[in-house]
Amino acid sequence: MGVRYRRVCLTGGAGFIGSHVARALLAGGVEVRILDNLSTGRRENVPPGAELIAGDILDPGAADRAVDGCDALLHLAARVAIRSSFEFAVEDTMANVVGTAAIIRAAIRAGSVRRIVTTSSMAVYADAPTAEPIDETHAVEPISPYGVSKLASERLTHTMARAAKLESAVLRLFNTYGPGQAFSPYVGVVTIFVNQLAAGEKVIIYGDGEQARDFVHVSDVARAFLLALGSDSSGETFNIGTGRATSVNRVYELIAAQLGTGQPAVHVDAVPGELRYSVADIAKARRLLGYSPSHSFEESIGEVVREILPAGSRE
Ligand SMILES: NC(=O)c1ccc[n+]([C@@H]2O[C@H](COP(=O)([O-])OP(=O)(O)OC[C@H]3O[C@@H](n4cnc5c(N)ncnc54)[C@H](O)[C@@H]3O)[C@@H](O)[C@H]2O)c1
Repeated sequence: MGVRYRRVCLTGGAGFIGSHVARALLAGGVEVRILDNLSTGRRENVPPGAELIAGDILDPGAADRAVDGCDALLHLAARVAIRSSFEFAVEDTMANVVGTAAIIRAAIRAGSVRRIVTTSSMAVYADAPTAEPIDETHAVEPISPYGVSKLASERLTHTMARAAKLESAVLRLFNTYGPGQAFSPYVGVVTIFVNQLAAGEKVIIYGDGEQARDFVHVSDVARAFLLALGSDSSGETFNIGTGRATSVNRVYELIAAQLGTGQPAVHVDAVPGELRYSVADIAKARRLLGYSPSHSFEESIGEVVREILPAGSRE
């Protein structure tokens, strides 16, 4: 990244992906101010050298303090679970839609912010008929309230930024894996499988397990944020994945092999809201951002399993 930005406001920087982005920014010599309400994020995730404002994006005072004097906003704070988003549709809409409008409004009012990068998801897309990669022109027809909230946040980003003459970019992240993800039964199939297998619990796979996902390493995602920040493009939306499909059954097989267990997974009915096929065509991010993922899932899963194993289960 060129040294275009001096101080960046990073929402969600105490979370899984945000903390990797914070470290990457600091390594590039950028000052980082994090706004995070620590709902799923953790204080320990905040790297030394980053400033933390423990507050909510919906609190105008906290939002104003967070963006004050910053020249860019990277917005990652969100309520992230797809499966529970039917039950928590109101809370998800507040955090992901109203929260995005609130932090962008604060950034516009600050007067110093020139560029806004926000975080969307493959959950905005209509289900694909096959595991062939889909590009950004694929129909957006979310099948979960979470996906609806992310689509609204994308549109708010570009619409509000354009009217205020700020630059914008939206990153549609695919399944992100790697060290530092808090264990929750709802988010992150890799973290869930590793924790359940390490605890000797039965692993549940929803549906036949042949649903395909695009697993992208969190360090590649962090790099994509830096590229999106430094890019000259504006008003663009990018898929961030690898272009490669892996079935949930294959994920289970690889992790079980790493942990030396032959225990079969238990299959139960598929749940509403989850796509059958979700694989990214990343040609646009390659072309306009110079994005090029350096991790393949099959090659990096062994190291990742060792990194995310709960401390008590490491040999
Ligand atoms: N993990 C994935 O596979 C994935 C895939 C697609 C998109 N995303 C998006 O990436 C972003 C980061 O997700 P993550 O996986 O790191 O999840 P995460 O839960 O670890 O991070 C979200 C962070 O936002 C904070 N937060 C939540 N609501 C807030 C609020 N109202 N005010 C201030 N802070 C708040 C949380 O405390 C947490 O630190 C999210 O926008 C998510 O929708 C993640």
